[in-house]
Amino acid sequence: MPALKPSPIPGTQSLMPTTDVVAYCPGSFDPITYGHLDIIERAAKLFGTVIVAVATDAQKDHLFSTDERVALCREVCAHLPNVIVQPFAGLLVEAAHASGATVIIKGLRQPIDLSHEGPMAAMNHSLRPEIETMFLLASPAYTYVSSSLIKWVCGMGGDISAHVPAVVGQRLREKLGA
Ligand code: PNS
Repeated sequence: MPALKPSPIPGTQSLMPTTDVVAYCPGSFDPITYGHLDIIERAAKLFGTVIVAVATDAQKDHLFSTDERVALCREVCAHLPNVIVQPFAGLLVEAAHASGATVIIKGLRQPIDLSHEGPMAAMNHSLRPEIETMFLLASPAYTYVSSSLIKWVCGMGGDISAHVPAVVGQRLREKLGA
């Protein structure tokens, strides 16, 4: 990594060029939706490398296995050359640090998301102040799209084609027998 340049503001350093920055985009991705993809695509325009980090969290009752969630993310992100997909376990900030990331990207759909994400960002900052959490607001078309709602609607035979890529819809219908 290039050295930080001195900043005109006393006692500070200027930002690294964003093209050198590795951003960590974590989530359950159970399954990945167009809402996730929107955030990933926008992050991929801002940062040199985006790591889509699929949580293996054993405490959560995922519909898809870790391998299935990683595989779906890889298929859906295949058109993005600076995006890589990998699973992660344990503390988010430690996984991000181990991958060389200095930014964590989270998407916010509704104001209420911040009440959940804010404390996590603050805790993560206390654990590793050198890693910055940045929030991207969901594009208007995706403010109500969540993996949970998609699974619910799909399981009841609803049309989810506007909310997930075709391959995800197909795997969901297979999984749910819908
Ligand atoms: O898509 P999700 O389920 O909202 O993703 C949540 C996730 C995986 C980002 C969150 O559960 C997480 O950060 N897990 C890693 C464990 C951790 O670091 N916990 C302390 C957070 S302050």
